Amino acid sequence: MTFDSGPSALTSTDQGPEFIIPGLWDILTSMVDAKLPASRLAQMVEGAAAVAGQTDLTAVLWTTVETAMDLTGATYGALGVIGEHKTLVQFLHVGIDPDLAAAMGEPPRGRGVLGTLTRVATTLRLDKLSDHPDFLGFPDHHPPMESFLGVPIKIGDAVFGNLYLTEKPSGFTIDDEALVEALAVIAGSAISTARLQRRLRRVAVVEDRERIARDLHDAIIQDLFAVGLSLQALGHSIKDDGIHAGLDEAVGRLDDSIAALRRYIFDLRPPVWTRRNLRLELSDMVGQLAGPYGADVDVHVSSEAAELPGTAIDDALQMIREALSNALRHSGATKISVTIEEGADCVLISVADDGDGFDPSSVQKGMGLDNLRSRADKARGTTTINTAPGAGTTVLISLPL
Ligand SMILES: Nc1ncnc2c1ncn2[C@@H]1O[C@H](COP(=O)(O)OP(=O)(O)OP(=O)(O)O)[C@@H](O)[C@H]1O
Ligand SMILES: [Mg+2]
Repeated sequence: MTFDSGPSALTSTDQGPEFIIPGLWDILTSMVDAKLPASRLAQMVEGAAAVAGQTDLTAVLWTTVETAMDLTGATYGALGVIGEHKTLVQFLHVGIDPDLAAAMGEPPRGRGVLGTLTRVATTLRLDKLSDHPDFLGFPDHHPPMESFLGVPIKIGDAVFGNLYLTEKPSGFTIDDEALVEALAVIAGSAISTARLQRRLRRVAVVEDRERIARDLHDAIIQDLFAVGLSLQALGHSIKDDGIHAGLDEAVGRLDDSIAALRRYIFDLRPPVWTRRNLRLELSDMVGQLAGPYGADVDVHVSSEAAELPGTAIDDALQMIREALSNALRHSGATKISVTIEEGADCVLISVADDGDGFDPSSVQKGMGLDNLRSRADKARGTTTINTAPGAGTTVLISLPL
């Protein structure tokens, strides 16, 4: 691979979409200027191609983490997706086995040094994580992590998330920093391409159904009508009573089929997520539920989540209805906050109250929470309830897209 051929080297390889990665050329040239060893540059280009070759958003994220670990020799790698409130709404990690991760509890939400990276939005390279003034300590069972390299992944000017690498036995170098920064630029570009493709796919599904419905209507129904009309015309010119009755019956059946087809077409029309308005439906529901109570309910729907498909909207609204009515009826909260945002490949819903909290093991069971869980299971999603007496309750729901 040579680097003197100008921007043509920026187009992605054999498979996958052809796109030009903004800013990459500058980074590559500066890496060449910095005299990075050719073998590392080659490894970088290979990793970049692997990331850029993914078309599915989740695959882009995992490949980015794995490539960054390979490039630097980090023991652990992770990618945190930043939500509207600047917290991490999703945390993909590599290197810690799932049982240990489960023992550590909730995934990090982006406090401490992880949050510092979100705030400063530039690379952070540390020899000793625990020496950083923002370090808050690790949860129980957390393996030791000292050396740290954190690099933001940007899409345009917005920070999509952060790439975190830890525990390189010899410590991360300035070369590692340059390589991972370049990778983050490629990842940002691949992420925005994957998102765009997802949008286009959704639109394509809507258009497909609309087209089929239109074709059915225009072609088949009109034909059936025409057949019906000719049968009727035929009936007028035939004197035989028996045949007459037979024709009438045939026309009647035809009418029934046309009516059935119309209903079918009606159902086939897209589940109109283009026309549904999650924000409006949610605020209507919140208004109705919260009206009789004194709590202040604050609703936030990110612009991405506002475009959810219709089925996900139905699930989301039902689940929020339960969590919110619980907060209103049982918690004595003064403030409740409902948020819906889109993670990499899921919708994240949170209903948080500042009320009494409860002890799930000793509480009198109703139907609501069970229904909530089974609805989430059915949608292949998850629910988590964070609560303790005196500490308020947060219901977190994640539904796959
Ligand atoms: N946000 C909350 N704050 C305080 N307590 C809660 C909260 N959510 C649930 N609970 C407690 O958990 C119990 C079980 O909730 P669940 O929704 O399953 O049943 P329910 O609300 O009592 O009845 P149902 O939902 O069937 O009308 C509640 O009765 C209440 O004691
Ligand atoms: Mg309930």
